[in-house]
Amino acid sequence: MRIHLLDPLLANQIAAGEVIERPSSVIKELIENSLDANATKIRVEVENGGQSLICVKDNGSGVHPEDLTLALQRHATSKIQSYDDLTRVMSLGFRGEALASIASVSRLKMMSAMQTLRTGFMIKNNINGIIEAPTPIAHPIGTTVEVADLFYQTPARKKFLRAERTEFQHIETMMHRLVLSRMDVAFELTHNQRDIFSTKATHQLHDEEKRVATILGNEFISNALHIAYENHAMQLKGWIAEPRYSRSQADMQLIYLNGRFIRDKTIFHAIREAYRDVLFHGRHPAFLLYLTVDPLVVDVNVHPTKQEVRFKDSNAIFSFVHRGIHDALSSVRPGVIVAPNSENPTVCDHTNHFVPPQQKLMQLNITEQMKTYHALHGSAEPVEILPESSEDEKQTYPLGFAVGQIHNTYIIAQNALGMVMVDMHAAHERILYEKMKITMDQSKVVMQPLLIPLVFELPLQEIHAFENHADIFLKMGFVIELIGKSQFIVREVPALLKNKNIQTLLRDIFSDLIVEGKSARFSAEINAVLSSVACHAALRAPHALSISEMNAILRDMEQTENSGCCNHGRPTWKQFFTNELDKLFFRGR
Ligand SMILES: Nc1ncnc2c1ncn2[C@@H]1O[C@H](COP(=O)(O)OP(=O)(O)O)[C@@H](O)[C@H]1O
Ligand SMILES: [Mg+2]
Repeated sequence: MRIHLLDPLLANQIAAGEVIERPSSVIKELIENSLDANATKIRVEVENGGQSLICVKDNGSGVHPEDLTLALQRHATSKIQSYDDLTRVMSLGFRGEALASIASVSRLKMMSAMQTLRTGFMIKNNINGIIEAPTPIAHPIGTTVEVADLFYQTPARKKFLRAERTEFQHIETMMHRLVLSRMDVAFELTHNQRDIFSTKATHQLHDEEKRVATILGNEFISNALHIAYENHAMQLKGWIAEPRYSRSQADMQLIYLNGRFIRDKTIFHAIREAYRDVLFHGRHPAFLLYLTVDPLVVDVNVHPTKQEVRFKDSNAIFSFVHRGIHDALSSVRPGVIVAPNSENPTVCDHTNHFVPPQQKLMQLNITEQMKTYHALHGSAEPVEILPESSEDEKQTYPLGFAVGQIHNTYIIAQNALGMVMVDMHAAHERILYEKMKITMDQSKVVMQPLLIPLVFELPLQEIHAFENHADIFLKMGFVIELIGKSQFIVREVPALLKNKNIQTLLRDIFSDLIVEGKSARFSAEINAVLSSVACHAALRAPHALSISEMNAILRDMEQTENSGCCNHGRPTWKQFFTNELDKLFFRGR
């Protein structure tokens, strides 16, 4: 065959192969057009999983009748004019391909009316794919696009479509993404003339959260932190689930970049890193995030579906997102719970209203309690003791006051909301870990020389594990030397650990290092060592504590970052609300 130009219909059908995979892709393209036309209300009607009909109706700006024919042609767009425009593009579309592609694989009808004109116009393609001249019709301001019999002339494509139910599921997923992309737009969806959902346009945080709850579930939003983080160039907003609401799959992770749903490795990596030491191994975080950046720093023209993007400086994006998420997660401490309402006892509202505890009885004052505790458990840094608290302040301890211990493992405390149960080991592990991180970050590690240096032998593999991380151990406050090939001599230890069995502790840490191997990032590596130290050095159950020691742990938890879970992501404490306890005993009925 000699070279010839492809027939335009065929060229469009080839292009459709890239962007129009299934009915849900049609919906994406049409809704994006409506959003670009500044619609505030979008109604989507679907028949038979989108295979017989998809109709998207908006109240946007409309298309000029003289542009209607052009709108259905390839490489025809009103959104950019020059390369320069492309680099600054903020609209969702700009390639001028979607309508032409859709029209080449379906029967398409577009009806539109503009505010400045008296009548609306309609355009459609006939059975041979030929676009007919626009004809006047009555139509409210805005645009309606009807796509019927998708893939009817491309049977090969049609064969790939699944059952009606499956295709509709794809449509719903796509609709959810779009509905969450713009809270200020109202959406409606019907399937086979049945209402599936309808959401009003919202501008208030409370209503936005309702919309998120409708789509991602009540459980997500009631366990999520709202974040709003920005620097001079970027903004990160949205909701991230607290570690206790993690998922077995990475299936609730939505990221929008300048209003566009994207999947991006750098951003995912930054988020995973930020969750690293609060999430239970193998679990996935859930989040809904909106990142806004200057369009000049990102290239969205990487792939026809525009889900992939390329950042000019991906390190800057990484650090920004990591910081934003990390800071938000670290701010989680006891003290932001309020009692559940009676209809839904498991919902916690994280709106920062804390109801102060009522209990007043204390056997020792706080200063004394902290002293006893730190004396027993080896914190050598000058204990940071708050000035003696007034009666009022005493009432505002979120975790309340200890009343006892169960099986020398769990601390039971009473606060205004009811009963608090703390896993002593998990809580102490987090406290130690965060303290070590802070002292190390500030290079304020206090070392404790041993009166008699500790000498012991270790197998070669453990020696190597130590050698590979020697600098970290020194930074942490261990002064360790090697004598000959297999002997260790420990001269100084971090004061925080002075009362521990150092030999066992080191052995355990080395074997952790061997099993877990060397991780790539330096700070992650340090944290892995610290985490292991904290785990092995923390109080081990069974271990009897005095009431003062228990109270001191509670106070420490209240001041510790991430104290809601241990370094492995297990929860450290749980609130039992009085009304839940009352229900157990049918009180008040
Ligand atoms: N719902 C709509 N409201 C107003 N104009 C629209 C609508 N849909 C499409 N258009 C017009 O048709 C043009 C072509 O649309 P499309 O093929 O999706 O390309 P792109 O969105 O990349 O510009 C758009 O640039 C826009 O001017
Ligand atoms: Mg478009």
